[in-house]
Amino acid sequence: MNAERRPMLAANWKMHKSVPESLAFVRMWSRRVAEGAALPDPTQVELVLCPTLPALWPVAGLLDAMGVAVGAQNVDVGTEGAVTGGVSGHLLAEALATHVIVGHSERRRLFAESDAVVAAKAAAAFSAGLTPIVCVGESSAERQAGETQGVVARQLTAVLNAVPEGDGRLVVAYEPLWAIGTGQGAVPADANQVAGWCRALIAAAWGPAANRVRVLYGGSVTGDNILGFWHADELDGALVGGASLELESWLAMVRTVAPAPSA
Ligand code: 13P
Repeated sequence: MNAERRPMLAANWKMHKSVPESLAFVRMWSRRVAEGAALPDPTQVELVLCPTLPALWPVAGLLDAMGVAVGAQNVDVGTEGAVTGGVSGHLLAEALATHVIVGHSERRRLFAESDAVVAAKAAAAFSAGLTPIVCVGESSAERQAGETQGVVARQLTAVLNAVPEGDGRLVVAYEPLWAIGTGQGAVPADANQVAGWCRALIAAAWGPAANRVRVLYGGSVTGDNILGFWHADELDGALVGGASLELESWLAMVRTVAPAPSA
């Protein structure tokens, strides 16, 4: 955590929840807030919810009223054209998304997204005015072979070469593959070290602008372990999968990171 950067807590719902289920979650969250559940001041903590694509537009108005941003989970390159199934950044922005996850390891693996494709998608997000949350991270085998720093550097360098520097919009999420959905999160000190490597790499490319780039941690984050990551020097928040799907566990995380209201 660093005063120069506003921490982010982002929920990645992946391919979970129908549109009515997504709406019900957000309506219930809104009701809980009206009843006094903690909701951080958006100038102090940025909350982002990334539902499935069809749910973006339906939930956006309610979330906006709560000061919560809406993110997509993928973006295609280009603006429009003969791309069956494609959804451009402009279309996402029209559906009221302001953020987009790019290069999640599930997309790299299941859809064979290369570093070059991920970099092009990050650039597409920038040109559509979206905030890209770019995921990087090593597999278990790469970690065991001592390749973490090299893998993350390769993935991040491709993105740094493709996007404009300096406006502080780029968000990096360090998500080691072995920690995703396994219940075995990284040790905060290790995640912090990788985040430090990321920022050093960004600083080498962009200079002081690196201080404005947020680096999140993702992988088996829950209400029980989030504070360790939240307070790590080089980390600026968390990207949460499974533990964001159930309202009570999401509320527990939001409550844990919400600064105490000033007296
Ligand atoms: P889990 O929190 O379920 O491990 O998922 C992490 C993730 O992939 C977020 O993008």
